[in-house]
Amino acid sequence: MRNIIETKKLCKTFSNGGVQQHVLKNIDLEIREGDFTVIMGASGAGKSTLLYALSGMDRPTLGEVVWNGTDIAKKSSDQLALFRRKNCGFVFQQTYLVDSMSVLDNVLAAGLLVEKDKKKVTTKAKEVLTSVDLPEELWNKFPTQISGGEAQRVGIARALVNHPGVIFADEPTGALNSQTGKDVLNALTRFNESGQSIVMVTHDITSARRGNRILYVKDGEIAGELELGKYVSGDKDRHSMLRDFLREMGW
Ligand SMILES: Nc1ncnc2c1ncn2[C@@H]1O[C@H](COP(=O)(O)OP(=O)(O)O)[C@@H](O)[C@H]1O
Ligand SMILES: [Mg+2]
Repeated sequence: MRNIIETKKLCKTFSNGGVQQHVLKNIDLEIREGDFTVIMGASGAGKSTLLYALSGMDRPTLGEVVWNGTDIAKKSSDQLALFRRKNCGFVFQQTYLVDSMSVLDNVLAAGLLVEKDKKKVTTKAKEVLTSVDLPEELWNKFPTQISGGEAQRVGIARALVNHPGVIFADEPTGALNSQTGKDVLNALTRFNESGQSIVMVTHDITSARRGNRILYVKDGEIAGELELGKYVSGDKDRHSMLRDFLREMGW
């Protein structure tokens, strides 16, 4: 598998009230195309900061974030925004859907940022809403009229509408109950099976075992990684492999 992202001595330092906090420390990491990469680690370890740096949502303080040979950290803010729209899909714990717009319009609006042909975007938006199993009778509803799990799947549809190279998800099931969380994970797993690269941060071992590669972040460094292999439902072995790995990492 080809590397879709490579970081070189990636550092992120925040200055809090004059005190320097080194949140990411010289991270050298590759993200492989087609992988479902999972980032785990204690709260405050730097997982979200790493995700933001990988996706160009934020810039590193030092070091490189290379996508297909180009260091995105060197792009201007406008170039970086355009790069993100074309190459990255984002799913967060909160969906950030626009409440005054229908489900379909939320997805359309994201698509129209990149493709101007409304007919093409509409077709694509309907395709992605179908692919996340969102029933057609919900497409004209507003975000406040659907459940949290449904809204999260709209969020995934929105993330997918521009065919991003990578989907970045930061605790996408963090606010959901276990059944709706499972629907969201099933949607992500299905896209991964169709070749979509995913990078997901999670606290939850049941979510994490969907990944085929687990990275453990400790104090701003990659403390360890585990190759789990592709997800197969009902595989008890991978759950215990992951549990053993996390124990070893001091989770
Ligand atoms: N924008 C910011 N400004 C200042 N400090 C930040 C900022 N973002 C994150 N941090 C600090 O960086 C550390 C890691 O944060 P984060 O990456 O969100 O951790 P995690 O996602 O692993 O819980 C925390 O101590 C947090 O307070
Ligand atoms: Mg976080």
